[in-house]
Amino acid sequence: MDLLSTIKSRRSIRKYTKEVPPLELINKCIEAALYAPSARNSQPWSFILVKNKEVIEKLSKAQPFTKFLEGAPYVIVALADENKSNHWLEDLGCAIMLLLLEAHSLGLGACWGAIYHPQSKERENYVREILLIPEHLRIIACIAIGYPDETPPPKKVKSLDEAIIKVV
Ligand SMILES: Cc1cc2nc3c(=O)[nH]c(=O)nc-3n(C[C@H](O)[C@H](O)[C@H](O)COP(=O)(O)O)c2cc1C
Repeated sequence: MDLLSTIKSRRSIRKYTKEVPPLELINKCIEAALYAPSARNSQPWSFILVKNKEVIEKLSKAQPFTKFLEGAPYVIVALADENKSNHWLEDLGCAIMLLLLEAHSLGLGACWGAIYHPQSKERENYVREILLIPEHLRIIACIAIGYPDETPPPKKVKSLDEAIIKVV
């Protein structure tokens, strides 16, 4: 598939089959994230790969909209070192996007579970305690990943005419 087709056909997948994808595929998704752009090429990201069912179950309770994590064979916790970049949040957005795209291109399904919240560290603290994550690593997302067990329809997006508000 060419890149634009991959981009256009990706959807968030929140239901997964019981089949556990080979670790090699999960590693490819994380590898894709490592090539993301970052401010001053700071590459502030790191990841925790969670396979343990009980731990995944606990993570799924981080907030009401992360319940879908509980059905995933893997959860990737995406972390940002706030000492390495002034733009750690944007940097991680780029990295996670590449991870999600690689997952889709490999026939996997994935979905971002939000942990970072601009007004509260409550969810971060919850995940931090479970995984014993040091304070300087901000916890951005818990990403569920597995083989898709749902097929959401293609997404309606803005037309180019709506999106480009001015050409100067
Ligand atoms: C920053 C961010 C946070 C998100 N947090 C959640 C979440 O906590 N729970 C969830 O089910 N989906 C979450 N999503 C997935 C979005 O709901 C999804 O991307 C959006 O509805 C568009 O659908 P699509 O990914 O299929 O294109 C998040 C996505 C982003 C980019």
